[in-house]
Amino acid sequence: MKIIIVKSGGFCFGVKRAVETALDTAEKFKNKKIYTIGQIIHNNDIVEKLKEKHIFPVKLNNVFEIKESVVILRSHGVEKEYIDVLNKNKNIIIDAICPFVKKIHQIVDKLVKEKYFIIIVGDNDHPEVKAIYSFTNKKRALIVSSPESNELNQLVFKKNIKKIGIVAQTTQDFKNFSEICKKLLDIKGEIRIFNTICNATSKRQEETIEVAKKVDLMIVIGGKHSANTTRLKELSEKYSKKVFHIENKYELDKNWFKDVKNVGITAGASTPDFVINEVIKKIEKEVENNAI
Ligand code: F3S
Repeated sequence: MKIIIVKSGGFCFGVKRAVETALDTAEKFKNKKIYTIGQIIHNNDIVEKLKEKHIFPVKLNNVFEIKESVVILRSHGVEKEYIDVLNKNKNIIIDAICPFVKKIHQIVDKLVKEKYFIIIVGDNDHPEVKAIYSFTNKKRALIVSSPESNELNQLVFKKNIKKIGIVAQTTQDFKNFSEICKKLLDIKGEIRIFNTICNATSKRQEETIEVAKKVDLMIVIGGKHSANTTRLKELSEKYSKKVFHIENKYELDKNWFKDVKNVGITAGASTPDFVINEVIKKIEKEVENNAI
């Protein structure tokens, strides 16, 4: 039986980098308690593993209590106000923010200085969007999630806005982003559009489709509540006869592999490499011995 693995499955570059930074920090500050503001990445396995390395997540409300400690900034960013507090309280700050997210902060910072009205295309409640918003001056900024948004419609009629800068949450859907941009073209004046969507998600989906087309069975690994993993399952189902969504190797079932010649494996953005590798090893070793 042949196993085909989706190369871009699992952690993206920014998430991998954040976890590696955390592990390096644990090595460097062996005798210190280390904190992350919120979960460093959205994955409980990793957060628990990091606790063993004396790295603990702290809720945003408790940021004010951290003093003269080591603090790691999570991959999807932290609000500027909190970073200022951490600096004021003489903490050592380790920056694990994904460079693509950080780039958005820099763009917004520059646009604000140049007096642009900022539009952030993204989800209001997402930590990444909240962090981006913190780099605006708030009075002249708006978070827009869809082209139908009321605020967006009202903005189009405001006469005092002459310069607009638009950025996107990194995981935004391109179609949604472009429709919002199109709507803003109704405003007379200067509009600067920065397509800050990261292609890690779309690349993973495209590669998953390619693999699903070639195999008799597709295994999708990731949290059952993970939206991006569920999407991978739905896409796989369009192209492959049999698809199973599992969280780890313990859910594999030998009956799935009867008469299967090719198996495809993909994984959501929050699935650690060790979980993927455990699944592959179990399939390789045990399925071929008919012992799964
Ligand atoms: Fe990942 Fe950074 Fe893109 S965290 S999804 S590589 S913006």
